[in-house]
Amino acid sequence: MNKLLVSLLLTLGVTGVAHAAGNIVGDAAAGQAKTAVCGACHNPDGNSLAPNFPKLAGQGERYLGKQLHDIKSGKRTVLEMTGMLTAFNEQDLADIAAYFASQKGSVGAADPKLVERGKALFNGGDLAKGLPACTGCHSPNGAGLAVAGFPHLGGQHSTYVTKQLTDFREGNRTNDGDAMTMRSISAKLSNKDIEALASYIQGLH
Ligand code: HEC
Ligand code: HEC
Repeated sequence: MNKLLVSLLLTLGVTGVAHAAGNIVGDAAAGQAKTAVCGACHNPDGNSLAPNFPKLAGQGERYLGKQLHDIKSGKRTVLEMTGMLTAFNEQDLADIAAYFASQKGSVGAADPKLVERGKALFNGGDLAKGLPACTGCHSPNGAGLAVAGFPHLGGQHSTYVTKQLTDFREGNRTNDGDAMTMRSISAKLSNKDIEALASYIQGLH
C-alpha cells in the first residue's frame, strides 16, 4: 500500500465513526414495503434500467444508509428525489438500505476499446500523478468493503459513474467526508480516464 492510501484510510476511519448510523438495525422485508415510489427510477429490485439512475441492488448497507441520510438532509443534492425521503425516519431509512443491500446486483458490459486503460487505472492507479489504485478501497472485483462504507461499484451504469467522478472533480458532489477522498482522487482524472474507468466498472464483477 502506498503512503497516500494509508493516510486516506486512516482519515476515513476517523470520519467513518461519525457517520455510523447508531444501533438501528435495518429490516429488509419491512424496507421493501417502503420502496414502492423508488421503483419507477431504480426498478423494484434496485437494478435500474436507465443509465443515469444508479443501481442500488447489492450495494453495501452502510453506504446506502449514509447516502439516504445525505440526500434527505441536502448534503448530497439529488433533484429527482426532492422531498421523497422527508417522511422517513431513521428506522425507515435503515430498512430501505437493508432491502436494497439484500438484492442481487446485475452486471453490464465494458467497451472493449476502453478496457485496457480502465483496468490499468483501476488496478494500478497512476504513480506519476499520485493516483492510488481504486482496488485499495473498492476491491479488485469492484465489490467495495461494505462494513467500511466503501461502495460496491461493479456492474454500475457507466453513465452514472461518469457523472459521479465528474461531480466529485468539479465539487458538485461533496459528501465524501472531511478527508475529501473522492474529490482529491477525481481531481487527478482526465475526462478520458473517467470514461475508461466508468466503462471498465460497468463490466466489472
Ligand atoms: C425520479 C427518479 C428517482 C426516484 C423516484 C428515486 N430516485 Fe434515487 N436517485 C435518482 C437519481 C437520478 C440518483 C443519482 C443522482 C446523481 O447523479 O447523483 C439517485 C440516487 C440515489 C441513491 C444514491 C446511490 C449511490 O450509488 O450513491 C440512493 C441510495 C437512492 N437514490 C435511493 C432512492 C430511494 C430509497 C428512493 C425511494 C424512496 C429513490 N431513490 C427514488 C433518481 C430517483
Ligand atoms: C481510500 C479509499 C478510496 C479509494 C482509493 C477510491 N475510492 Fe471511490 N469511494 C470511496 C468512498 C469512501 C466513497 C463513498 C463516499 C461517500 O460516502 O459519499 C467512494 C465513492 C466512489 C464512487 C461513487 C459511488 C456511487 O455509487 O455513487 C465512485 C464512482 C468511486 N468511488 C470510484 C472510484 C474510482 C474510479 C477510484 C480509483 C481511481 C476510487 N473510487 C478510489 C473510497 C475510495
